[in-house]
Amino acid sequence: MDRKDKQAETTGSDAASSDAPSTTDLSRRDFLEGTGAALVVAGATPTFASADDGTARGNRPVQQVAPVPTTAITLTVNGTRRTIQAQDRWTLNELLRDQLQLIGSKIGCNRGECGACTVLLDGEPVYSCSTLAVWADGRSVVTVEGLERNGEVSPLQQAFMDYNAPQCGFCTPGQLMAATALLERNSSPTDGEVREALVGNLCRCSNYNSIVEAVLAAAQTSGGAR
Ligand code: FES
Ligand code: FES
Repeated sequence: MDRKDKQAETTGSDAASSDAPSTTDLSRRDFLEGTGAALVVAGATPTFASADDGTARGNRPVQQVAPVPTTAITLTVNGTRRTIQAQDRWTLNELLRDQLQLIGSKIGCNRGECGACTVLLDGEPVYSCSTLAVWADGRSVVTVEGLERNGEVSPLQQAFMDYNAPQCGFCTPGQLMAATALLERNSSPTDGEVREALVGNLCRCSNYNSIVEAVLAAAQTSGGAR
């Protein structure tokens, strides 16, 4: 029995009557040409697949985007009364920075940890990144832009400059607002009271001692923040 007869036995084909070359007769060139054609087909397949987004077959329903709920709120910002149609999801910081262009309050962590976004809400320091805008309805907001009077910086702002309290300055608006709230309820704080009041305001430049000195100096020279 020759080789073709043995192959016919194991595969069930009529190898003896076929003139086609066996796989062992394929040249390397034949193999590569065949493989290349297969790759061209495979490469073209995704193009046809991506053109079919499935909607024609009804298996990909079009998603309806629900309108964002809004609420009309009225608040006083730096002494000016404002009525705004606020999205319920806006934070107070988004309202101030993105809608009113009051960009003094900064976003550092955006999760209530650093204090860079501190503003006064009815005189109390709050993290504006963690306060919803709608919660400010009917209330008073003061930002760092509201500290100056008649074009003059506040005594506390002046003390910050005199004592080099800002380094990079990113935390400074938040520090000023927290210190302003302190001096408005305690015009003669101790060193410890200043540090305690500013404990929620981080300074990545670690300029804490100068900040405390500035607050104490403002208290001694002016008896208060504003
Ligand atoms: S940005 Fe609000 S606490 Fe850090
Ligand atoms: S001055 Fe740079 S973070 Fe405070």
